[in-house]
Amino acid sequence: MTTILAIESSCDETSAAVISNGQLRSNIVATQVIHQKYGGVVPELASRAHQQHILPVVEKALEDAKVSKKDLNAIAFTRGPGLLGALLVGASFAKALALGLKVPLIEVHHMQAHVLAHFIEEPCPVFPFLCLTVSGGHTQIVLVRDALDMEIIGETQDDAVGEAFDKTAKLLNLPYPGGPLVDKYAQQGNPLAFPFPLSEMPGLNFSFSGIKTSILYFLQDKMKSNPQFVEENIADICASVQHTLIKMLLQKLRKAAKQTGISEIAIAGGVSANSGLRAALLEMGEKEHWKVYIPRFEYCTDNAAMIAMAAHFKYIKGEFSEQTISPMPRMAF
Ligand code: KG4
Ligand code: ZN
Repeated sequence: MTTILAIESSCDETSAAVISNGQLRSNIVATQVIHQKYGGVVPELASRAHQQHILPVVEKALEDAKVSKKDLNAIAFTRGPGLLGALLVGASFAKALALGLKVPLIEVHHMQAHVLAHFIEEPCPVFPFLCLTVSGGHTQIVLVRDALDMEIIGETQDDAVGEAFDKTAKLLNLPYPGGPLVDKYAQQGNPLAFPFPLSEMPGLNFSFSGIKTSILYFLQDKMKSNPQFVEENIADICASVQHTLIKMLLQKLRKAAKQTGISEIAIAGGVSANSGLRAALLEMGEKEHWKVYIPRFEYCTDNAAMIAMAAHFKYIKGEFSEQTISPMPRMAF
């Protein structure tokens, strides 16, 4: 039996997971709440919180999996992309543990791991499939030919869609991270109440920076005549913004499916937890005769289970890293 311990520390979640022969045995996530009062992730505070959390999180993951350190065959960690200081904590811990246990080290690309979260539980997509990967830092359409053979065929040219959600929330005075709150209010609102313009990007690329400005001007204009506009219309504003963002995502996804002729369609990343996106994707999937794959909520946002899954595929292929490896905040696919 091959047992791997995986560590994720790219942003504001410290997480550890254990996997044996591709079967997940534990997944512990410690979310850092410290950032809430600053309205966004503060890199230095994130690094310190990772240092505090990493040992208890790893110990709990081993305990839940009923595994001792000497049973481990490899140690995996997120190499990038992410915050340098945050990545360093996970990478240093993983390197030290691998060295001490004399087992191989496996580096994992965070965005590839989001895609591979689809293999934690059945039903799993069939290769080749398309994955719309949507998070706080990325918005990509990925052509997945095999577990370790992926190509980005479309991506954002500016903000990520998660950022658009979070910035909208900030404009509405909602606390960080705003995405889940926009989702919550949107469920009670009218998505067609306020039309916002869709961005026109060529090909399969996205742009989400324009919508933030449109929302800002829209709110400034409305508040001139009614200073209570946001409070009175929060559900309709959230529903309308969310509707626009989802429309932009799904238009390009449909275009990608047409261009590639692929009808196995998956979503991944933090924004795939959005209830409106999940519902709209299922609806489009029925119309377009796609087979749609949506991960469970806990495997959408950052977690080490997906890092462990990616490491499982790399272990099979013997793709190991050297002890001299360092984190890559801007890591290409
Ligand atoms: O993948 P993730 O946990 O971290 C990154 O790698 O960025 O994604 C975090 C992003 C944040 O922007 C957060 O607001 C967004 O995912 N998010 C949501 C929802 N849940 C998380 N956005 C919209 N609706 C949600 N329900
Ligand atoms: Zn992520």
